[in-house]
Amino acid sequence: MTDNTADHLDAYPPTAEFAAAANAGESLYDRAAADREAFWAEQARRLHWHQPFTRVLDWDDAPFAQWFADGKLNVAYNCVDRHVLDGHGEQVAIHWEGEPGDSRDITYAHLLAEVCRAANYLTELGLKAGDRVAIYMPMVPEAIVSMLACARLGLTHSVVFAGFSPSALRQRVDDAQARLVITTDGQWRRGKPAPLKEAVDEALVGSEHSVEHVLVVRRTEIEVPWTDGRDLWWHETVAEASADHEAQPFDAEHPLYILYTSGTTGKPKGILHTSGGYLTQVSYTHHNVFDHRAGQDVYWCTADIGWVTGHSYIVYGPLSNRATQVVYEGTPNSPDEHRHWQIVEKYGVSIYYTAPTLVRTFMKWGREIPDAHDLSSIRVLGSVGEPINPEAWRWYREVIGSNSAPIVDTWWQTETGAIMISPLPGVTAAKPGAAMTPLPGISAKVVDEEGNPVHLGETEANGYLVLDQPWPSMLRGIWGDPDRYRSTYWERYAEQGWYFAGDGAKLDADGDLWVLGRVDDVMNVSGHRISTAEVESALVGHHSVAEAAVVGASDDTTGQGIVAFVILTAGAADTGQDLIAELKAEVSREISPIARPREIHIVPELPKTRSGKIMRRLLRDVAEGRELGDTSTLVDPNVFEAIRTQKANW
Ligand code: PRX
Repeated sequence: MTDNTADHLDAYPPTAEFAAAANAGESLYDRAAADREAFWAEQARRLHWHQPFTRVLDWDDAPFAQWFADGKLNVAYNCVDRHVLDGHGEQVAIHWEGEPGDSRDITYAHLLAEVCRAANYLTELGLKAGDRVAIYMPMVPEAIVSMLACARLGLTHSVVFAGFSPSALRQRVDDAQARLVITTDGQWRRGKPAPLKEAVDEALVGSEHSVEHVLVVRRTEIEVPWTDGRDLWWHETVAEASADHEAQPFDAEHPLYILYTSGTTGKPKGILHTSGGYLTQVSYTHHNVFDHRAGQDVYWCTADIGWVTGHSYIVYGPLSNRATQVVYEGTPNSPDEHRHWQIVEKYGVSIYYTAPTLVRTFMKWGREIPDAHDLSSIRVLGSVGEPINPEAWRWYREVIGSNSAPIVDTWWQTETGAIMISPLPGVTAAKPGAAMTPLPGISAKVVDEEGNPVHLGETEANGYLVLDQPWPSMLRGIWGDPDRYRSTYWERYAEQGWYFAGDGAKLDADGDLWVLGRVDDVMNVSGHRISTAEVESALVGHHSVAEAAVVGASDDTTGQGIVAFVILTAGAADTGQDLIAELKAEVSREISPIARPREIHIVPELPKTRSGKIMRRLLRDVAEGRELGDTSTLVDPNVFEAIRTQKANW
């Protein structure tokens, strides 16, 4: 049991000075509670509407929501044009740091010109509102320009993380039926160029041929294979296009993007987000949760645009709020482990948003590294992607936040589109490890299997996190699969009409919320969502593997590590470490290096229930070295003897 008295005492309130100057005070909660829809309408009016909305929420067709449905706006206009028109064209939008050490400062005026050129060229290619465009790029400015150009034209982008394999890209391109892929020749990784366009070519062989063109940004100058007529260089096309383009308004519910994320089956889900409600909530949360001040703060979110954090808190949230932000292409240890802190010092970063796994990595590298730098510009720290353990939380605040910066531990998901549960830095006395409170305008509950509220302080209770009211940036569905949308999120608590988040949670004695991690077959490795089924299907795709079971086992640095148990096919030769290395490589190739198992164990059998279900809980016990839980439902309890015998050799 957690000592709830300690929970209460170990809280970090903001200083009076911080609280007095903060964007959000206590009254924000009161305003939202008084009239939720009026509150969201007020937030939406922070944006520019070509045609103002008169309706706020339509929930008649639940769980398909419409927000601000009769309003019209242009998302890119809100992120770029209006700042230039307001006289801020010379403000830096992006301090871009390339991995090899090159850098570029891009002002809002410059960004506008680039977005307009791209919009003009995409129009010339015949792309029309509603068409899908896949973006498979490293963290270069053109990736952000591409996303904004799509938004400007009402094209639906589908950004695919550049670490994904050709087959993962193919699956996503085919599912979305993308007409265009935008990519780069290669990407810098630890001082060396690695091919990327080549992966697109490989993905398109055997795809469903929806793709008409591949638009290629030159980044590394490595040689690329070329298909005349299909492939186009960015510098010969977009760069030559006119920088004048007038943004047209689109319906608030016009699709903005699809982003694929792992579910409990092998097939990734295309999460669909639309325009007005999404932009409202990412803008509102970025402003209040990070206490962001345009023209004063220098903001840095270390995520990649391939994930939702990059969409909402590099592109749409910050740019809608006229942020000046750092965008960094490389890894935190290239050329050495000082890189992030050098960047913080160079630009005077004041808001820094990262994932717990990176905080734990910094801890491992030692505090003398950040201590060698002046980090006094930092005034707000953020965390996202997985629960942050209290030890890492305290280290983050003390070492990176000069023992004074508030930490906002932000809980949200690809599906929620924007932050849902988080402290407000000028209001909340935050507790290390707790996401604390739903934001003003958001409603969440922690309930048991039947939907009864769990009692405060009942830490061992099986609490599930649910969202009991629709919110503006909620997903509008799964691309092409309304049934899966209903069954994944809305079936579990159908009677109550609640959204099931898939996370376990508890409320402490003060009523503060702690997110405990996934309760389904989704793993969280370094803040990346990976489904057990996807990894299993990659393993079974190898000719030597007959059956595979994958679990996420706790890991000190990455949160969870992937542990696989495989049974070999009859004819397969068990070549020991060689085969294991080959299987790990197969998973990297099939999905991505981020899905590479930490351990693979070759076993004679897998533990199954009488109905044939693999007992993952028991495998997790084995993987984490625990005594086995209840084995009475197993068909053959002896299977563990066999696994244990194998384990003696691990
Ligand atoms: O399990 C929760 C965890 O990440 C999941 C969502 O993953 P994804 O859609 O990839 O989005 C990650 C970035 C928003 C959630 O279901 N998660 C995210 N943030 C937190 C978290 N778990 C605990 N605390 C958080 N702050």
